[in-house]
Amino acid sequence: MTLVPDRAVPPEQAAREEDLIARVRASFDSCRDPRLKELMQALVKHLHAFLREVRLTEEEWSRAIEFLTAVGHVTDDRRQEFILLSDTLGASMQTVTINNEAHGDATEATVFGPFFAEGSPRIEPGGDMSFGAAGEPCWVEGTVTGVDGDPVPGARIEVWEADGDGLYDVQYGDGRVAARAHLFTGADGSYRFWGVTPTPYPIPHDGPVGRMLEATGRSPMRASHLHFMVEAPSYRTLVTHIFVRGDELLDSDAVFGVRESLVKDFERRPAGTPTPDGRVVDGTWTKVRFDIVLAPAGV
Ligand code: BEZ
Ligand code: FE
Repeated sequence: MTLVPDRAVPPEQAAREEDLIARVRASFDSCRDPRLKELMQALVKHLHAFLREVRLTEEEWSRAIEFLTAVGHVTDDRRQEFILLSDTLGASMQTVTINNEAHGDATEATVFGPFFAEGSPRIEPGGDMSFGAAGEPCWVEGTVTGVDGDPVPGARIEVWEADGDGLYDVQYGDGRVAARAHLFTGADGSYRFWGVTPTPYPIPHDGPVGRMLEATGRSPMRASHLHFMVEAPSYRTLVTHIFVRGDELLDSDAVFGVRESLVKDFERRPAGTPTPDGRVVDGTWTKVRFDIVLAPAGV
């Protein structure tokens, strides 16, 4: 029978535990880097508070070490299981939130994710970033402005997404480049391009993080989304996505990336409806507007 630890700790026991915390924290007192000292002492404070709150058993401690070891073993140059762990614990999203402070109407940031790739092809305004990726065509348009409403010409917009089968090009392992591109805003701050309508897909869940999700009854699915990174001189770089209104995964995104302000209407048009640029599309297509507001650099 497993004994449930008694959470009411007698004073003598509490004194021993608190003495240990004080000694571990004091071991960093002479750290010459004040920020490192602050980080380590706060880490010790919160880590010990967790251990004491849950009255961690030695068996649970061993299981935790085994889990972290497995996370390390599966991590290599291409797979970063520690970031995935941070993502699924909401730590990535909290760090993004802390470091992208609300500023006027500036567009909210969200997680970067593991599927950005350097060196995407450039497309011209109205170009097609799908490069043959499977999926329903989607017309995306909007503007990039500052919080004062002034247009931001020449802003570099990187866009990337999974294809209609829920896979990024890099997951095929055949070197293809599809459903990713970069483009620049025009003199009036506007942009437009063709992509594919986002579909839901799971985060990599064949490793220890997937086992953690399974053991805790959580889903690995991400809400359907299209990634953006927007850069312009004198503005804070924005890393974000837009999500599809009506997607049933909006409330259970595996990495807590959804913000209400980023949920957009992807309006579906019947086959045969004329497209904004006269392109002939075989079946249905969707249209979404995303007006991006950049915060000034340094806020
Ligand atoms: C993604 O957006 O593709 C993603 C983000 C975080 C973890 C895994 C995947
Ligand atoms: Fe993604």
